[in-house]
Amino acid sequence: MAEEKLLGVKELAVFYGASQILFGVDLAVEEGRTLALLGRNGAGKSTTLKALAGVVKPSSGSVALRGQEIAGWASDRIARGGMGYVPEDRQVFKNHSVEDNLKLAVKKGVRGQEDWNLDRVYEAFPLLLPLSQRKAGLLSGGEQQMLTIARTLMGNPEILLLDEPSEGLAPIIVQAIAGLIKDLKKSGVTILLAEQNMRFCLKVADDAAVIDKGRIVFQGSIAELREREDVTKRYLAI
Ligand SMILES: Nc1ncnc2c1ncn2[C@@H]1O[C@H](COP(=O)(O)OP(=O)(O)OP(=O)(O)O)[C@@H](O)[C@H]1O
Ligand SMILES: [Mg+2]
Repeated sequence: MAEEKLLGVKELAVFYGASQILFGVDLAVEEGRTLALLGRNGAGKSTTLKALAGVVKPSSGSVALRGQEIAGWASDRIARGGMGYVPEDRQVFKNHSVEDNLKLAVKKGVRGQEDWNLDRVYEAFPLLLPLSQRKAGLLSGGEQQMLTIARTLMGNPEILLLDEPSEGLAPIIVQAIAGLIKDLKKSGVTILLAEQNMRFCLKVADDAAVIDKGRIVFQGSIAELREREDVTKRYLAI
């Protein structure tokens, strides 16, 4: 099957108050692929994801999810429309068990798909199974990261937006998250991953976009990015 564009972003602009943060961001994510949005501290990665999820309102530009224009929609409507957003702060319901956190998020996908359920989540996230009855607030940072990703998948999204899933985690946990992202991709999940960690992205992503000061300065395959020392040296900390 030919890959088609699942998420298309054109000329996206965002302001916080009077200061402009995004200056016309363009991105395309193909179905079934993982795109890494790379950039330094403060480059605009989180703001881009927030704008896609409707958590901040873009002042102009277009966001098309499977061809449907969603820019300007409220965040809950965008979530119901298939955008599975995992913010950087890894919020879980701390006083609920892991399993309750998962059950609370159950939802059919926008096309009626029910690919994800408790069994499949425990299969994809085997570390969560022995923790199923534990209060989510007692999990480690890495376990909470896995839980927030798993919980988002329970809503059967069209695309998963992950904001720096490796941040602040021990190297061994980062490896586990990388393996998980690769497995999700193998099972057909489309992913947009915001990251500062280029090595992490080289391992898990197919495509890359590099953002700097609110502008996209490179877009291409990961293989192309590897060849572009001018881009990686100038815009990425490596
Ligand atoms: N609520 C806000 N109000 C004003 N400015 C903000 C706000 N949030 C972020 N910014 C600014 O917007 C710019 C982009 O921030 P953003 O969080 O999108 O960057 P980032 O690429 O995700 O960085 P990091 O790697 O640190 O997560 C930064 O200059 C930041 O200071
Ligand atoms: Mg960020």
